[in-house]
Amino acid sequence: MTTSVSPQRSSAAPAGAPLPMVQVDGLSHWYGAGEMRRQVLQKVNLTIQPGEVVLLTGPSGCGKTTLLTLVGALRQVQQGSVRVLGQELNGSSRKQRQQLRRCIGMIFQGHNLLRCLSAEQNVQMGSDLLPDLSYRARRDQAREWLRAVGLGDHLDKLPHGLSGGQKQRVAIARALAAHPRLLLADEPTAALDKQSGREVVDLLKRLAREQHCAVLMVTHDPRILDVADRLVQMEDGRLMAAPVPEPTA
Ligand SMILES: Nc1ncnc2c1ncn2[C@@H]1O[C@H](COP(=O)(O)OP(=O)(O)OP(=O)(O)O)[C@@H](O)[C@H]1O
Ligand SMILES: [Mg+2]
Repeated sequence: MTTSVSPQRSSAAPAGAPLPMVQVDGLSHWYGAGEMRRQVLQKVNLTIQPGEVVLLTGPSGCGKTTLLTLVGALRQVQQGSVRVLGQELNGSSRKQRQQLRRCIGMIFQGHNLLRCLSAEQNVQMGSDLLPDLSYRARRDQAREWLRAVGLGDHLDKLPHGLSGGQKQRVAIARALAAHPRLLLADEPTAALDKQSGREVVDLLKRLAREQHCAVLMVTHDPRILDVADRLVQMEDGRLMAAPVPEPTA
């Protein structure tokens, strides 16, 4: 039997209000034990609606990746509430987190592509966990995703034969192949030049929009801040809203 991760309206939400994809309330987090115990998140609140693109910025070490991994159900919540797709992660079991992760696409800086697999096979892995899809259907979808990210001519290439921007596009295609409801991206443009970085985030935003998928993206890159519907800034483990800059020419 599988556990459903369909959104369930929290009892606090008014009837008719859109159900948030992510609702974080009073989230605090610590690393270490004893004298080494150190607080890295301090009562963080964050709500992300379906289809919304939220960019998270802040100085190195302020807690951005920690927040992303907690929302991505990769870490156990210690204090506060994290509801993702309506499911409370504080007190959740390993199995529930595993189940939820199937609905979340994750893109990390290092691409995490398997070096011995072609672009097509890497993307196909993204849909491995989708039920009721034949091998052939998954392969055809992987090809479609790679065409959608402009890599239709590179299906058979291994990662080492692709540029940094192309590898990042494969990682995006793989994350989206799983039809995620929520996409978490940690500095997806960090290793890219200006033009590839811009192309990658524009593509991410367009594809997310088409799938009505919410996006939470960590970035240090001031050149891409204008893709955000909302910008939030973190400092010393605290979140604050920030104005979204106008697009630059
Ligand atoms: N597994 C861990 N164990 C102990 N301390 C950790 C661990 N992971 C992160 N930290 C510490 O927690 C703080 C927040 O780390 P985090 O990776 O969330 O920051 P960040 O904002 O993502 O930084 P960056 O922009 O450099 O990626 C840092 O001081 C870091 O050294
Ligand atoms: Mg980080």
